[in-house]
Amino acid sequence: METFDAIITRRSCRKFKDKKISKELIEEILKAAMYAPSAYNEQPWQFIVIDDRKLLDEIPNIHPHANMCKTAPLAILVCADLTKELSENMYVLDCAAATQNIMLSAHDQNIGSVWVGIYFRKDHIEAFTKFLNLPKHIVPISLVPLGYPDEEIKKATRFKKDRIHYNSF
Ligand SMILES: Cc1cc2nc3c(=O)[nH]c(=O)nc-3n(C[C@H](O)[C@H](O)[C@H](O)COP(=O)(O)O)c2cc1C
Repeated sequence: METFDAIITRRSCRKFKDKKISKELIEEILKAAMYAPSAYNEQPWQFIVIDDRKLLDEIPNIHPHANMCKTAPLAILVCADLTKELSENMYVLDCAAATQNIMLSAHDQNIGSVWVGIYFRKDHIEAFTKFLNLPKHIVPISLVPLGYPDEEIKKATRFKKDRIHYNSF
């Protein structure tokens, strides 16, 4: 898939087929995540691949907007590793860029995904920290459930010329 087409045709997917994603594809997707830009090239991320059905089924109980985990064969928890931080608080943006790379590279492989927000919600951060027994320096930023789509992914129309400003607002 061409890069531009991947960006324009990606949409959130919240219903997945009962079909596993191969380890090779998971690693390819995580490779894309690790090529995201980061402040000072700090690459502060750690990725937790959740493919245990019991854990996936539990997630909607700790996050009110993560019901899609019930059909997802896996979810990637994108975390910041504070020991790798070189520029204060930039890890949030770095991990957001990695999250987007996960979604676009998954889409390139016809795998659907959705971004489930964790950061900046204290309750969500605490819930995932407790759920996976994360050490203090590992901060969950986003969760990306992934799988082969079991719903129609509609195209969006979003281009708005009035949002573009040249040289001043
Ligand atoms: C920071 C962030 C947090 C989000 N959190 C959730 C969420 O908790 N649950 C969910 O179903 N979708 C979540 N989304 C997905 C958005 O609802 C979705 O991207 C938006 O509606 C645009 O639709 P699209 O992804 O199909 O283009 C989140 C997206 C972002 C960027």
